Amino acid sequence: MTKLLLLCFAVFVTANAEFTWRHHNNEELPLILEEVHQKCPNISRVYALTEPSVQNVPLYVIEFSDKPGIHQPYKPEVKYIGNIHGNEVLGRELLLGLAHYLCDQYVNRDRRIRALIHNTRIHLMPSMNPDGWQLATDTGAKDYLIGRYNNHTVDLNRNFPDLDAITFEFERQGINHNNHLLRDLTRLAAPLEPETRAVMRWIMSIPFVLSAAIHGGDLVANYPYDESRSGAPVSEYSASPDDETFRNLALAYAEAHADMASPSRPGCHTTSSDESSTFNFGKQGGVTNGAAWYSLKGGMQDFNYLATNAFEVTLELGCEKYPDASKLENEWVRNREALLAYLWKAHTGVKGIVSDDSGFIQNAVISVPTTSWFDDETSFGLYPHGLREGQPRIYKRSLYEKVAKTLLEQKDNQKQ
Ligand SMILES: *[C@@H]1O[C@H](CO)[C@@H](O)[C@H](O)[C@H]1NC(C)=O
Ligand SMILES: *[C@@H]1O[C@H](CO)[C@@H](O)[C@H](O)[C@H]1NC(C)=O
Ligand SMILES: [Zn+2]
Repeated sequence: MTKLLLLCFAVFVTANAEFTWRHHNNEELPLILEEVHQKCPNISRVYALTEPSVQNVPLYVIEFSDKPGIHQPYKPEVKYIGNIHGNEVLGRELLLGLAHYLCDQYVNRDRRIRALIHNTRIHLMPSMNPDGWQLATDTGAKDYLIGRYNNHTVDLNRNFPDLDAITFEFERQGINHNNHLLRDLTRLAAPLEPETRAVMRWIMSIPFVLSAAIHGGDLVANYPYDESRSGAPVSEYSASPDDETFRNLALAYAEAHADMASPSRPGCHTTSSDESSTFNFGKQGGVTNGAAWYSLKGGMQDFNYLATNAFEVTLELGCEKYPDASKLENEWVRNREALLAYLWKAHTGVKGIVSDDSGFIQNAVISVPTTSWFDDETSFGLYPHGLREGQPRIYKRSLYEKVAKTLLEQKDNQKQ
């Protein structure tokens, strides 16, 4: 009997394997993910976080990897999270569509998608706030705030431990300590909601390097810090130690999006009579520092960065928080390349394993000096300031070719 039921389920699921662009409710969401998994069993896995929402709805994730369920050395872990504010629903549908797309293109032998999945472990969580989604949907999907919060009326993107306060305090004391700060947390400003706790456990248990949370209500890629140093509510640029990298990540999304980075598009909240009083992010490349827009405490983005090695940005994907179903497919077309370009960013930077003769070294801290000698040709041959003989040297790619050539010539000369 059980077998028969399972069989029926599988048949039902595969028979509907064509993805339709419409809003999917909390019962349909896991079925869509299961459908993708049935189509692509070798490269996907569906799982739920350790705790459900307040109303007991599981927080589902679909994972893509050539070895689902396993962290492999050299394969970066990356995640997308949608619908953290329950009434901001585009990310939820985009991630369901992305799951289908990754699977379909893999099956169709799309070389780019195959390479991505063979070299990356990708986790997609379409909804972090299913209860808020339900409330927003039941109340007509029109209000700017109804459904934003979880079922305890808590804003989940303000409910994470405020690690910015800790790093800012270390800065004031002149202490150079700005990572893995959860250990330095002594008290919480507010109790953690079940959705927050579940996502925190997830963040701490998988070595993510890259992440994005998808929101709605504007069109911009927002990067850390979200919290201002002075406490100013708006317009204070709050740079993190990785400001340049974060700008680069945010720009990677904005520039691959149909018009996020377009200077000629209108701002979401701009009126033609008064351009100056509201932000028009297209005129600044489609990106913004979080606190330079407005400051917030307890956001998920800064938590990822300050508690772990995950670089997270916040993507606002449209002026409308709850777009009509008829607009979803076009939004997919406008976002598809950006969603993929951002995933590829997981391969930015240096990969390696820290070890010595006795094996792997756990929890190693890696320091990279960042002085101008990186691209300074004149210091070639000398050991630049701060480096001892025998330490590895890092060059920009353009300079590397030159340096490599010179070294080879030197070797040849020595032989003669
Ligand atoms: C899954 O792996 C099996 C065994 O390697 C293979 O025969 C099958 O074609 C694969 N399926 C897909 C959808 O790639
Ligand atoms: C909590 O969820 C229940 C069931 O969906 C709903 O009736 C209630 O209005 C929700 N409360 C809040 C504060 O969101
Ligand atoms: Zn939001």
